[in-house]
Amino acid sequence: MLDVLSILSGSDLFSGLSARSLERIANHLKPVRFDQDVVICREGDIGRTMYIIVSGSVSVSSDMGWGQRELDRKGPGSVFGEMALISNDVRSATVRTLEPTECLQLDNESFDALLDKDLDLAQRIAKIMTRRFSTLVHKTSSELLGAYRALTFALANITESRDPETGAHLERTRNYCVLLAEALYREERYKGLITPQFIDGLYQAAPLHDVGKVAIPDAILFKPEGLGPEEFEKMKIHTLIGASMMEKVIRQSGADLFKMAYRICLYHHEWWNGTGYPHGLAGENIPLEARIMALADVYDALLSRRVYKPAMAMREAADKIQHGAGVQFDPNMTLVMIANISRFEDVYLKYQDE
Ligand code: CMP
Repeated sequence: MLDVLSILSGSDLFSGLSARSLERIANHLKPVRFDQDVVICREGDIGRTMYIIVSGSVSVSSDMGWGQRELDRKGPGSVFGEMALISNDVRSATVRTLEPTECLQLDNESFDALLDKDLDLAQRIAKIMTRRFSTLVHKTSSELLGAYRALTFALANITESRDPETGAHLERTRNYCVLLAEALYREERYKGLITPQFIDGLYQAAPLHDVGKVAIPDAILFKPEGLGPEEFEKMKIHTLIGASMMEKVIRQSGADLFKMAYRICLYHHEWWNGTGYPHGLAGENIPLEARIMALADVYDALLSRRVYKPAMAMREAADKIQHGAGVQFDPNMTLVMIANISRFEDVYLKYQDE
C-alpha cells in the first residue's frame, strides 16, 4: 500500500504544505505504471496531467533544432508535467522513462479544483515556478552571454593572427574605449546616449574594429614601409569588409552588440572634419561608438612601434591626440580623454605584448 501522504510531503512541489492540503491532494491522485522507454509527455502536445514519481526515473529532454538534448533526470519525489497544467499551454519538453516507473497522476480538472480551494498550494506553486523560471533564465542567459563573448573575441583574434598590430592591441583598445565611455557617461550631454549597456556592448564590440583586415592581402598588411596611395585605397576597404561581415552576423542575430560592431567597423576611420573614410561622414553624423574607437585606436597606434616607425613617448602621443581635436577627433571627447590621460597610460602599461 502506497503511503501517498509521505510521498507528497517529500515531493519537490508539495513539501511543506499543511496536512489538510496534502490530504486534499491525495484524494485526487491515481497510481499509474509505465514500462521502460515510454514517452509520458511529448514536447508540443497538449498536456492534461501531471505526475509525481514514486519509483523509477525519467529523462526530460527538449528539441534544440539539431536534435534532442537532455535537460534533466528525475527520480522519486520529483514532479513533472506540471508546467502545461499551470501555464495552460503545450508540453515544454519530452519526458521518457529510463526504467519501469511508478507515478501518481493528477489530472487537469483536479489540479484546478485544488488550486481554487487551496490558497497555500496556489501560492507555493507560484513561488516555485517563479524561482524555477528565474534560475533557468539566468542560467541560459549567462551561458549564452559567455559563449557570445568568447566567440566575439575569437573572431576578433583572427585579425590579430594576420595583423602586424598584434598582441595586446585589442585588449588595450577595448579598455581605452571603456575608460573614455565611462568618463563621458558622467557628462550631462551624453545622458541617455551612453548607458551601462552601451559601455558593456562597447567592451564586447571594440575588438572587432579591424575584423575586415582578414581580407586584405598580405603584401599590403605586412608591408614594412608606409603604403603607397593605391595600396592605401585597398587598405581602406577593411572598413567595408568588416561591416559586411557584421551585416551577415546581424542577419542571424540582431543583438545590439553586433549592430554596434557594425558601426565601429564601418566608421572608426571617419574624421570629425569629414576627411576620413570610407564615407567622409563629419561631426556627430559619425556614430558615437566609432568616435570613441577612433581615439582609442589612434592613441594605441601612436604608442606602438611599427616596422616603419618607432613608438611615441606617452607625453608626445597625448599632445598629438590633443592636436587632433576638431580635426580628426570629436573635440569634446578629446578634451575628456586628455583630462583623464593618466588612466589611459595605465592601461597602456598594463596590457603589453608578450
Ligand atoms: P510540462 O511542460 O507539462 O511537460 C514537460 C515537463 O518536463 C515539464 O512540464 C516539466 O515538468 C519538465 N521540464 C521541462 N523543462 C525542464 C527543465 N529545464 N528541467 C527540469 N524539468 C523540466
